[in-house]
Amino acid sequence: MNATVVGSQLGDEGKGGVVDLFSEDADVVVRYQGGNNAGHTVVRRGEEYKLRLIPSGVIRGKTGVLGNGCVLDLETLFDEIETLRARGLDPDVRVSARAHIVLPYHRVLDRAEEASKTDGGLEVGTTGNGIGPAYEDKAGRRGIRVGELLDDAVLRDRLEYSVPKKRRLARDVFGIDTGVEFDVDHLFETFRGFGDRLESEEMVVDASSLLAEMDRDGANVLFESAQGTHIDVDHGNYPFVTSSNPTAGGAITGTGVDPSAVADGRIIGVVKAYLSRVGSGPMPTELSEDAASAVRERVGGFGTVTGRPRRIGWLDVPMLRHAARVNGFTGIVLNHVDALGGFEELKVCEAYELDGETLTGIPSTTAEWARCTPEYRTFETWADRDWSEIRNDGYDALPDAARTYVEYVSAELGTPVYAVGIGPGRDETIVRQHPFGSAED
Ligand code: IMP
Repeated sequence: MNATVVGSQLGDEGKGGVVDLFSEDADVVVRYQGGNNAGHTVVRRGEEYKLRLIPSGVIRGKTGVLGNGCVLDLETLFDEIETLRARGLDPDVRVSARAHIVLPYHRVLDRAEEASKTDGGLEVGTTGNGIGPAYEDKAGRRGIRVGELLDDAVLRDRLEYSVPKKRRLARDVFGIDTGVEFDVDHLFETFRGFGDRLESEEMVVDASSLLAEMDRDGANVLFESAQGTHIDVDHGNYPFVTSSNPTAGGAITGTGVDPSAVADGRIIGVVKAYLSRVGSGPMPTELSEDAASAVRERVGGFGTVTGRPRRIGWLDVPMLRHAARVNGFTGIVLNHVDALGGFEELKVCEAYELDGETLTGIPSTTAEWARCTPEYRTFETWADRDWSEIRNDGYDALPDAARTYVEYVSAELGTPVYAVGIGPGRDETIVRQHPFGSAED
């Protein structure tokens, strides 16, 4: 049985912890899109691991694969591998030869384009890691793939074609001075070196063939998404999106598996019990800055990668309905339920009002979504408490009002609840129904 873990909102739903938990029964964990814009936190035996590229299941000793749909900052990848080794782990990471790489000029151009948008208020609030420009080059057929780092002649040809154009773009369009990030010889030496290292550590694979072979041998595959449905380049609120497909379909195109490997498996929607967002774009249920900073103080609302304060809002069910449909969730994990404990009021957006009409889903244009007014339902609150006391007692030990909240979300989406998160640790997730089969509650 395979499973795919997808964020149902705007990223930061706590997918890393969910992957870590369910990867116990997986043989291989595969990231299928994004790059080091992701920030997945895994807590194991009280130790915190922050990962940006390496699939979260690697912390459990599983094989981690970075699929062709990813864009790879190789310096970050090697730093993460070294950091895990220094902490006593032996990460087994394979990289698709078809994955594209992020080059230093992508980072420079990402930041330059964002800076150029600030006057018009058009900035996306990217993580500045060069993700968009790397995917642009992929679609524009001028990107460089991992497999090409292993071949002197091909790598040099690619750089000689692209770099002068990038230099002109930086200078003439964005008016910035260019340095070694735009120097063919420097890039060739650096990236040829990365290629040698990938080759000597036997990390480069044909991921599609590897996964097909593992499937034939009966392996369980866990597909790990980064970011979330509403920042998907197709299904999110464009243009305030990332440049890849975090939705479940991305697991097929981003790895090269037979579509049934994803579609016939479990598709786990990770839902944060409230809403948060680190970048720009609409957010109909957003709290005022005063209310948001009070929440941030209690629940630590700062982006893992950027350290920026997260914008905070009430749970938005129309967003979740869209996510459930686009991804075909077979179940959800409702995370951060502990964070809502002690709230004086608790609201959920059930529908929107737009131009006198009630909408139960989100409009397909971002401008219309920005004009939606939430229609709220109020829920009974529950007190904050020492959540660690109830983690071993299972779902029934949750406060009644918290269970009502969880069951409401499940009923609205028509999906079972696989698990409820009441803290960051692996043992702080109450599993109700294990997606790989065994019921624990
Ligand atoms: P980019 O992916 O760096 O190009 O950023 C595009 C948008 O996606 C920005 O609004 C980012 O804040 C957002 N974003 C990218 N990665 C993540 C993530 O892992 N969690 C939450 N938001 C993200």
